[in-house]
Amino acid sequence: MKLAIVNGPNLNLLGKREPGIYGNTSAEDYFATLVAKYPQVELTYFQHNVEGELINFIHQVGFDIDGIILNAGAYTHTSIALRDAISAINAPVVEVHISNVHAREEFRHVSMIAAKCVGVICGLGMTGYALAVEYFLEKGK
Ligand code: DQA
Repeated sequence: MKLAIVNGPNLNLLGKREPGIYGNTSAEDYFATLVAKYPQVELTYFQHNVEGELINFIHQVGFDIDGIILNAGAYTHTSIALRDAISAINAPVVEVHISNVHAREEFRHVSMIAAKCVGVICGLGMTGYALAVEYFLEKGK
């Protein structure tokens, strides 16, 4: 099974950024534990701060992998272009948020992408990424 984890803007600062909300673990450290935990999954990790680069990556992998686990960061709340990219590809996408966006500012309660995703995981910390991997494994190809 081939899965891609895609992180959007400011998520390169995980571990340093607002640790009270996002925790102390860097993305690199967490994804290394996921790779070790799921040797049966071919996991790719991509992070970018630029909306168009996220879209380019989704186009690039979205026709030949089994799923995408996407934390689009703040673009979640604004990006119709990312929503269209999710609609355009074949791979199913799970939307993940580390924090519980519904318990935060009102502008975070809206997701432009959720309706085009197979499901949404939020508020469970970094574990949300592992749970999304579990979903794809359980679902199978
Ligand atoms: C986030 C929540 C977003 O509202 C925020 O802009 C982020 C991170 C999360 O993982 O909790 O950058 O997607």
